[in-house]
Amino acid sequence: LRIYLPRDTTANALGADRLAHSLEALAGQKGMDLTVIRNGSRGAFWLEPLVEMDHKGQRLGFGNVTAADAETLLAALADNPTAHPSYVGPVSEIPFLKNQQRLTFERAGEGDPLCIETYQQLGGFVGLRNALAMTAQQIVDEVKESGLRGRGGAAFPAGIKWQTVLDAVGNRKYIVCNADEGDSGTFADRLLMEADPFQLIEGMTIAALAVGATQGYIYLRSEYPLAHQILNEAIERAEQAGYLGDDLLGSGQAFHLEVRLGAGAYICGEETSLLNSLEGKRGIVRAKPPLPAIEGLFGKPTVVNNVLTLAAVTTVLAKGSDFYQDFGVGRSRGTLAFQLAGNIERGGLVELAFGTTLRDLVSEFGGDSASGRPLRAIQVGGPLGAYLPESSWDTPLDYEAFAEIGGMIGHGGVVVFDESINMSDQARFAMDFCAEESCGKCTPCRVGAVRGVEVIDRIREGNEPEKNRELLLDLCDTMESASLCAMGGMTPFPVRSALHYFPEDFQSEGSQ
Ligand code: NAI
Ligand code: SF4
Repeated sequence: LRIYLPRDTTANALGADRLAHSLEALAGQKGMDLTVIRNGSRGAFWLEPLVEMDHKGQRLGFGNVTAADAETLLAALADNPTAHPSYVGPVSEIPFLKNQQRLTFERAGEGDPLCIETYQQLGGFVGLRNALAMTAQQIVDEVKESGLRGRGGAAFPAGIKWQTVLDAVGNRKYIVCNADEGDSGTFADRLLMEADPFQLIEGMTIAALAVGATQGYIYLRSEYPLAHQILNEAIERAEQAGYLGDDLLGSGQAFHLEVRLGAGAYICGEETSLLNSLEGKRGIVRAKPPLPAIEGLFGKPTVVNNVLTLAAVTTVLAKGSDFYQDFGVGRSRGTLAFQLAGNIERGGLVELAFGTTLRDLVSEFGGDSASGRPLRAIQVGGPLGAYLPESSWDTPLDYEAFAEIGGMIGHGGVVVFDESINMSDQARFAMDFCAEESCGKCTPCRVGAVRGVEVIDRIREGNEPEKNRELLLDLCDTMESASLCAMGGMTPFPVRSALHYFPEDFQSEGSQ
């Protein structure tokens, strides 16, 4: 009997490790021949721990299984699996998974993330092999033609960034993966690294071939200890198999890769403070220009891309730019991994082509609120994204459409709030978050965020609310236009949207 049980941070937090031990111990006592493969999560977090069983060519799913279910589940698996109360049907038929358009997360959950043979059998390293047969310029052109834009949030065209690094003169060039996934409500980078680490390694190696880099670093947040362990192990296995090292698959080209841990500062997700931190300095933002593509790590030309951008490149090189850019709308090509979180019935990862509306994403995949109360606001794009009221939910999920309504898609985080939310609390939180996480380099952010909290408090107290409202909007304009980086520059987004769409939440108790 062969079953699958995710070894993933979310599944473990919900008891997957305990369940695995119970199942193995019980099978031992009963003399059952049981193999438990610890796969990656498929991202249907609302069903975790999700046990799967090979059965007549299908994978049968059992959702929300706990250690207390181990005995009944084992008995059912051996006899009549579909009769077990946790049975949720064949995994490929679960609508939450079936209705997605998975490219980057296609392999997630299929097998042991550290099994290089499984990765190869499921199409892994095809992109790298193709890249090895191409010139650097051909690889860059392919990425340009795919329309792939940076998935970290800023959506800058990946191929143009790579072209800048390819054209830059340097005796050494670097590939840096930004895995400092700091946005609240986001987890796609972690899921990819825990479920399919070879894909990131392959994407970084392709980037290295494209720009002529020989060394890469994955800058990983320290809050992801399991991803750290998995990445280190995957790098070692890739080296042994010839996919990393001095002679990539006998091509004579070299690429080495190491993981470096951050120390918990949100601002180290900003690329220039990330580079400072990698160099062993304080994580403080550098002024741009010079762009990292020209003067990056240790002053050398450097590609800094998010985990999902580098992962997506494997699909582009394996299947071609035409295939990739066939997904999506307008200038938003390919797919994005949306992450449903907050007060939602079915939280988890949903990979879809750009263009679906926010309403369809949330209702079709996420269902209702977890509390059962009506939804009131959705924040898209992390803590610096706008809070959107129901009147904006028919906006298609594409970068330009969101920019038009004063929002952003960012890294694809979607956090849902029900009617119990107080939006002035959220606006205050945004300013407070900025004050806490500011690197302190520029005044509009360092001082502005502290003043922002004070002004919001005055409005809420009913202390000259109109005058302070104007002052707050003025402060938002200053922060947006004069901050050195997106931290101070984008904090106004959630604040303004809360003020604009939910003004009633800013009235003091006395004035209501
Ligand atoms: P940016 O717009 O300054 O730059 C985007 C990227 O393009 C950078 O890597 C920059 O170096 C590069 N670039 C710009 N012009 C270039 C050129 N001519 N040639 C080559 N490269 C060029 O945006 P920034 O400050 O890097 O990122 C801001 C975004 O980060 C926000 O929109 C937000 O969505 C996102 N973010 C993501 C978080 C996460 O956890 N993933 C956390 C916080 C913010
Ligand atoms: Fe630092 Fe804030 Fe200025 Fe960014 S905006 S450089 S985080 S002080």
